[in-house]
Amino acid sequence: MPTPDDVDAFLTTVLIGDDPTLDAALRAQHDAGLPAIEVAPVNAKFLHLLTRIAGARRVLEVGTLGGYSTIWFARAVGAGGVVVTIEAEPVNAELARANLERAGVSERVEIRVGRGADVLPGLDGGEPFDLVFIDADKESNTVYLDWAARLGRPGTVVVLDNVVRAGEVADADTPDTKVQGARRGVEMLGTDPRFDATALQTLDRKGWDGIALAIVVDAAAP
Ligand code: DHB
Ligand code: MG
Repeated sequence: MPTPDDVDAFLTTVLIGDDPTLDAALRAQHDAGLPAIEVAPVNAKFLHLLTRIAGARRVLEVGTLGGYSTIWFARAVGAGGVVVTIEAEPVNAELARANLERAGVSERVEIRVGRGADVLPGLDGGEPFDLVFIDADKESNTVYLDWAARLGRPGTVVVLDNVVRAGEVADADTPDTKVQGARRGVEMLGTDPRFDATALQTLDRKGWDGIALAIVVDAAAP
């Protein structure tokens, strides 16, 4: 009986295939000892396609890690686009910078080093972002979602990673602060009038998890 890992391997091989640039980025990231918590390739390509479907030219990412998803976004926005990506750990940001250079997309990516809550207010007043991907410390999900709405516009796409966490999100009494953060993020997407949202469970090489997908709406509209 095939397993979910077998399916992930099949889908990844057929739909993504070998990509030396991305493979090198992952190898550099793993060699540097970063945790292997980057989005799975099938998930990364989903985000990439979503960016293209939305026609997004300005993408905001909260949580760069080693820049794996950042490369996918940078490719999706094209030569005229911009990806602003926020990373709290200077060592990760350095590694991401090297990975983006090697991928040939560094001129369309701005890495901002610092905690999201400190960096995001400084982005206010710029052109709105077309797509926001939140994949950082789960405890701050609601802070990041609030900024996603503020820095977006009606129609901006918002994606929140890790909202299922092996099913634990359904446990209201969980002591796990990351799971609590996931629950609060989903609850905000369901109740805050600035969003219209859904979420999907996913099963890939990282296991059972999920992503929430939202659009920013005009909260004042009837
Ligand atoms: C964790 C964070 C992630 O962004 C992810 O995709 C998986 C796990 C974590 O911190 O546990
Ligand atoms: Mg994640």
